[in-house]
Amino acid sequence: NYYAILMAGGVGSRFWPVSTEAFPKQFHDMLGTGDTLLQKTFQRLSRLIPKEHIFILTNERYNDLVLEQLPEVTQRQVVLEPAMRNTAPCILYASLKIQKENPDAIMIVAPSDHWIEDEAIFTKNVEQAFEFCSKNNALMTLGIQPTFPNTGYGYIEYDKASAEDIKPVTQFREKPDYETAKQFIEQGNFLWNAGIFMWSVKSVIEAFQNSQPTLYALFENGKTVYNTELEADFIKENYPNAENVSVDYAIMESSKNVYVIAAEFDWNDLGTWGSLYDKLDKDSVGNAVVNAKTLTEDASGNMIRTKKDKIVVVDGLQDYIIVDKEDVLLIYPKTKEQDIKKVLQKVKDKF
Ligand code: GDD
Ligand code: MG
Repeated sequence: NYYAILMAGGVGSRFWPVSTEAFPKQFHDMLGTGDTLLQKTFQRLSRLIPKEHIFILTNERYNDLVLEQLPEVTQRQVVLEPAMRNTAPCILYASLKIQKENPDAIMIVAPSDHWIEDEAIFTKNVEQAFEFCSKNNALMTLGIQPTFPNTGYGYIEYDKASAEDIKPVTQFREKPDYETAKQFIEQGNFLWNAGIFMWSVKSVIEAFQNSQPTLYALFENGKTVYNTELEADFIKENYPNAENVSVDYAIMESSKNVYVIAAEFDWNDLGTWGSLYDKLDKDSVGNAVVNAKTLTEDASGNMIRTKKDKIVVVDGLQDYIIVDKEDVLLIYPKTKEQDIKKVLQKVKDKF
């Protein structure tokens, strides 16, 4: 009864110029290991879930990329969105499809842009969660010990009194402002939301029904046509009418049956060049290099990426992102990595 939803429809604009709308980060080998992030995520989930039960949710423009990169997947498993509406609509839609195929399904929802080191421990934590969701009406999250007031994550407050591995959540707060995040961390009983969810199809659909009646009605309407040849027309017509909202705001903040397991594995949301830099091996002076052959002098803390075997010489430069693509060369301070999204907009406006 185990299923997976792999979310692969985001754009990853802070990884520009490698990640672009036409070819987002999940389809790139960001780590320089030979596998793309999508392939790595698929392999990780295959340890737990029968391959034919793994569904990939993505925008229709990425259909060919998914099929190309995951030859073991058939078109049935690629759930296509005709419009970008963030994660809540696609999760609800896919859950209804899976429910129709198997009303007892237990599933994991996984982003395609994470770095997870200890896969065996990841598997163990997810199995614990699956066990719990098959017996309880529960929305399960994996919590990460926070290290600083990052405002790009969801925060999970858990019941301090609970001595169990699986703790009831007293508050789920998506992307708080800096002051609030700081307060949460000082309080101690808060974890970051890893963005990985586990639940039964029954529980998640019920959560949408309670918290998002309009969204629920929109997709529930198509239930008779899902998994038939009439589905594509229904989705083309109705999907664009869905509200643009993430699953965190849509159901996690308002549901009362949220639980968390503190993840025991090393986790990183590969959201920026700096987070990638942190995870890569460094040369003797602390530069992280993907694909390039480098000659460095008085240069450290740089994140360097080029096409395969391009020779790069760097002298007198610290803590920069140096990324070379056919049509773009980016040389940008690592401390301003969050601004790359805005830079991309400026580039689009100007050229
Ligand atoms: N199919 C599909 N369609 N996938 C999407 C869409 C969409 O419209 N939008 C985003 N995704 C995918 C992204 O590719 C990514 O794999 C995943 O959904 C999460 O989206 P992000 O946009 O990366 O979310 P976030 O990082 O801002 O926040 C989420 O993750 C954090 C941890 O990384 C939240 O769950 C936070 O609470 C959490 O802390
Ligand atoms: Mg993310």
